[in-house]
Amino acid sequence: MVDYEVTVYTGNRVHATTVNPVHIKLVGTDGESDRTWLRSLVIFRGAVTTYTVSCPNSLGRLLLIELDKRQFFILPGDAWFPDKVEIKSPENDIYTFPIYCWISDSETHRFREGKALRIFDESHPLGQYAREQELSRRNVDYGWDLYAQGLPYSIKADGPMTLPDEVQFSFTKATEFAFTAATAVAELQLKGLTDNQENWTSLDDINDVFRNKDTPLSDYVQQHWKEDDFFAYQYLNGPHPTLIRRCKTLPGNFPVTDDMVFIPNGSNLSNELKRGNIYLCDYKHLDGLQANTVQGIQQYMMAPLVLFHKRPDDKLMPIAIQLKQTPAEDNPIFLPTDSTYDWLTAKIFVRSADFTEHQLNAHLLRTHLLAEVFAVSLLRNLPMVHPLYKLLVPHTRYTLQINEQARDTLIGPKGSFTLFAASGGESVTKILARSQSSITYRSLCIHEDIADRDMQDVPNFYYRDDGLQIWNIMFKFVQGMIQYYYKSDDEIQRDSELQTYIGDIFEHGFLSQPQSGIPQSFTTVSELIKFATMVMFTSSSQHAAVNNGQFDYGGWMPNTPLTLQRPPPTKKGTTSEATMLQTLPVINVTVQGMAVVWLLSRQSSDFVPLGHYPEDHFTEEIPRQLQKDYKAELDKLSTTINNRNKTLEIPYTYLDPKNVENSVAI
Ligand code: FE2
Repeated sequence: MVDYEVTVYTGNRVHATTVNPVHIKLVGTDGESDRTWLRSLVIFRGAVTTYTVSCPNSLGRLLLIELDKRQFFILPGDAWFPDKVEIKSPENDIYTFPIYCWISDSETHRFREGKALRIFDESHPLGQYAREQELSRRNVDYGWDLYAQGLPYSIKADGPMTLPDEVQFSFTKATEFAFTAATAVAELQLKGLTDNQENWTSLDDINDVFRNKDTPLSDYVQQHWKEDDFFAYQYLNGPHPTLIRRCKTLPGNFPVTDDMVFIPNGSNLSNELKRGNIYLCDYKHLDGLQANTVQGIQQYMMAPLVLFHKRPDDKLMPIAIQLKQTPAEDNPIFLPTDSTYDWLTAKIFVRSADFTEHQLNAHLLRTHLLAEVFAVSLLRNLPMVHPLYKLLVPHTRYTLQINEQARDTLIGPKGSFTLFAASGGESVTKILARSQSSITYRSLCIHEDIADRDMQDVPNFYYRDDGLQIWNIMFKFVQGMIQYYYKSDDEIQRDSELQTYIGDIFEHGFLSQPQSGIPQSFTTVSELIKFATMVMFTSSSQHAAVNNGQFDYGGWMPNTPLTLQRPPPTKKGTTSEATMLQTLPVINVTVQGMAVVWLLSRQSSDFVPLGHYPEDHFTEEIPRQLQKDYKAELDKLSTTINNRNKTLEIPYTYLDPKNVENSVAI
């Protein structure tokens, strides 16, 4: 007889303990063990327990293990969360089997040894069989669903609780999320605000809402939201830094003339356009859409154009605003020299349009929904033992569940967005479909995106500075990983699983549109490196950039109103403080919006920062060293960003790697 020393690591997380009997079978190139009971009455969370499995002869090289957990007699069935199993063979070889998922049923589950294998590395029929079985199960568990025409496909599920256990929130995450949502609503109810459909009578009253939830930055926004330089600053370093672009020629539908705008130092608009000092935000995606009706009242949503000038002191300043796309007499071009409330009202309409464009395009579509496509394709097409699965699976954590919840509680029929936002209801899918058709591969890769927007040299653009650095560090890490596993382009082309993975993304994420520039197949190692970097960046850093500042900039409602309830002025000189207050959303709509952005800006206590890998999917030495080097580089960047921030009036923290979550999880 020979003995195998089997060490089982159970995850240290709530509810990971099991009282059900667990059995293991070891499978090697020369045979398999009996199905053997791991002799424990209870396997506690966090436990590391060693057992012996005896066999008549050596099993050769271990290929996989089979685990099952059966309900025993009167004991309740419960879920178990093993992290990994380590096995010491009679030959003193150590094999590690990463697991990191819930086992809640009575089925037999197979787990492969930790060394990453591509499909053509499988030399044993049992390995091939396990691979095929795993993928056919995953194809059933992770189907595609069409949420609406023209949008990326989503996971097929009947709500968050029907998702497979392995992709659901942890107990910690689920309870904290529910608690945060419940306390926010309870607090608002206590204040009698959730049913109050009256207009605000002063800006000071808004301050009383969520007073104890202010962040230092939301406080700052409240003090400075009316100022022109702060208005412009947000387009560089607020939660929506991806819209603004340099403007060399004015759009034909935005007829601003030299004599309209004041440019200091004797220059004029034409000269400044030539010098590259003019920037534009164009909300054309919102043109011609029917705004929502909220609580029986028609709302208003504009599709503005905003022109900015970079002054010699490097400050960006708004110089002209047109609220609708088609120039007309009743669509005046507002200017900073107009009356205080004309100019402020124009800026409020822009900020409200920005709420929609930011939330639906930059945030929901370009991070949440794309990250979901990347996650579903990964889970369907690559087995756990595949190197790209190991690399990308940390960037899928909680994404499917948060998106199911968003479809239910934000944009579903009774969702907050549907009920309260100007763009809620049928416009949501129209805006998303328009935005989807404008997505290009280049716009998802920050170097190209910055170049295409001609934003390389605009000063004080910290989203760009930090984002490019993260991309570079990430790219180097991904390059190291991919080049370790793929030595030639031929190997990429021969990896049929990799080809199915990208084909599924092209078809279901980018709707088979070749003009998106998304690859339809991988032919070179460098193509895979770039694509995997984009997936990691989109699912982590880009999401952090557009997610984490939601409350900072949206907590003070007048800076980012989710809807407006009066039409915009059609001529100058008709606005006042009273018309502004009547234009802003009513009390209960305001507080619902504030509660949502507060909830979506909270960090969960099981937050995993960028570059942290609490689950050891890689067991080989070089990939593990690359992970350590990657984390060290991110730590260094974090220090640099922190030092830079000490010199800034408004610190830019959203892309500090310590604040970037590894996946779209909120
Ligand atoms: Fe988010």
